[in-house]
Amino acid sequence: MNFRDLRINGQRLKSTIEELAQIGGTPGGGMHRLALTDADQKARDLFVRWLGEIHLEITIDEMGNIFGRKPGEKVDLPMVLSGSHLDTQPFGGRFDGILGVTGALEALRVMRENRMETRRTVTIVNWTDEEGTRFSPAMLGSGVWAGRFDRDWAYSRQDVQGKKFGEELERIGYRGRAPARKWPVHAYFEYHIEQGPVLERIGKRIGAPKGILGIRWYDVWVEGKANQAGPTPMDARNDALVAAAEMVLRVNELPGKMGGNMVATVGEIQNSPNSRNIIPDRVRFTVDIRSWDDNLKKEGAEELEKEFAAISKRRGCPVRMELIWDIRHTVFDPSLVRRVEKTARELGYSDHSMVSGAGHDAAYVNEVGPTAMIFVPSIGGRSHVEVENTSWEDCEAGANVLFHCLLQSANE
Ligand code: GLV
Ligand code: MN
Ligand code: MN
Repeated sequence: MNFRDLRINGQRLKSTIEELAQIGGTPGGGMHRLALTDADQKARDLFVRWLGEIHLEITIDEMGNIFGRKPGEKVDLPMVLSGSHLDTQPFGGRFDGILGVTGALEALRVMRENRMETRRTVTIVNWTDEEGTRFSPAMLGSGVWAGRFDRDWAYSRQDVQGKKFGEELERIGYRGRAPARKWPVHAYFEYHIEQGPVLERIGKRIGAPKGILGIRWYDVWVEGKANQAGPTPMDARNDALVAAAEMVLRVNELPGKMGGNMVATVGEIQNSPNSRNIIPDRVRFTVDIRSWDDNLKKEGAEELEKEFAAISKRRGCPVRMELIWDIRHTVFDPSLVRRVEKTARELGYSDHSMVSGAGHDAAYVNEVGPTAMIFVPSIGGRSHVEVENTSWEDCEAGANVLFHCLLQSANE
């Protein structure tokens, strides 16, 4: 059989995604499967079972990253790696991350059922805590593996309830023995939904991102003075929530003010004591700034620091900004990006060169070895929401591109 004519099984890919969607599925058709929760554990158990069914060599490292290896003819050569993440946002979708894991699984299933041997080892991966929602920053699993974060620092990260990453990893039984340490990678392909509107708008099927925007995350704490909402005059208040509200507006105005290409978001907020008749004395909120231009991102953050300081002074509410993540923009390997474009065309799919606004484990793997991504359209450009959707036809098309990219790289 000519392997060029082989295609993945779109029906099986669909049912695999649908089965995973049962674990932590929401009534609104989305997913709520935060990293290292019981639902994450169940999804991992199912994933490991699937890896076993196609006889992959399974390794779980000390960050809970799960690898399934299909040895090549030359096991000493740097391997080809592919995957993404099974954790989700709260009220996120069925495809973010999951498509990349199930797409790679489908590619390996096809290789196995056709008894295909490759020159290099092909390995599938599920990275731990890509989303960074429960334990920040994002991409902790791939970040430790790539040497960007210290393992024990990652273990010490806490969720809003004070639970530690390391303890939760242990609790769900996924603190493996293998060191979370990079090894030589010949090529990494991460297949993902676009999570934006571009491909759908221009009617193209496959996106080949040339890289990923740089991202900066802050945790911000504002302190006020709690008091009775009735007797306390308006001019005798240090209202932490009002100060925070002004700061949130400054974040929203920042991209317009800086000019150039930038987005900025406050997505999470905790207000304390959170009672309708108490003036708030403690607010925590998050800031997410993204740009392709690393300097602009830095200058934007400096501008925010100044603005926050002025608001804090005027309202008598001390502010503390903690930088918890700063990742420069990523430029993928041009020859692998070309491989994605060329493979898409050879398979009869339209393609488009673009940039990823969303963060991906591919950013850290790119620091270890040549990396590229494959995007398929997001319906309505919606993602990180329950209605996140991609047509099954597009899911299948992207998985075919992944399959053939993997074969080419694995046979070099
Ligand atoms: C990852 O999901 C991101 O925040 O872009
Ligand atoms: Mn993702
Ligand atoms: Mn995501």
